[in-house]
Amino acid sequence: LGEDSFEKNLWEKIPRIKQELSFAQIKELARFFAQIVDYKSPFTSTHSIGVAEDAERLSRYMGFDEETVQKMYLAGALHDIGKVAVGNEILEKPGRLTEDEFAVMKHHAAYTYYILSGVDDFDEIRDWAAFHHERLDGTGYPFGKTATELNTQERMMACIDIYQALTESRPYKQGMPHEKACEILRDMANKGWLDDTIVKQVEDCFRG
Ligand SMILES: [Fe+2]
Repeated sequence: LGEDSFEKNLWEKIPRIKQELSFAQIKELARFFAQIVDYKSPFTSTHSIGVAEDAERLSRYMGFDEETVQKMYLAGALHDIGKVAVGNEILEKPGRLTEDEFAVMKHHAAYTYYILSGVDDFDEIRDWAAFHHERLDGTGYPFGKTATELNTQERMMACIDIYQALTESRPYKQGMPHEKACEILRDMANKGWLDDTIVKQVEDCFRG
């Protein structure tokens, strides 16, 4: 039985109602999932919501239309949703991860891609979310995409993911100051990992 006919059979046996949700309702759901992921990750307990808010702010700063701004919020909130498939013994491990553990950790981005592939009309949001560990020079993961395959929103998400993680304050640790975080981003752009024009936008948008 192919996947398509399985789906068709299921629809016939269990009639379901398609429910259209408003953007506000989708946003609430995305926030809900972001909180689950953040709750699971004690070292980055406001990361998903923080990335969502930063993605919204940077998109607005860069002059995107409101629909794109809202979609960037959703992509930001859901970018690490694949972490639900990574064990807590890895997410909560205090010290350095072993090579094997890091390999498992890296799977989260592929899981994000897989999970969001199951949502109707989410292709763009899925890609903006799931490619946040890709690098322009092809050394990122999980797909090893290169510059020609990474659009503006995907490049933005890679920058924001790092910027938020560096600047996020935690109960026991003050976040890195803006200027210092930007130095690191510039360094990563010089290495060919991040888009330098977007790093510049991040610098300007989040200053002060
Ligand atoms: Fe991630």
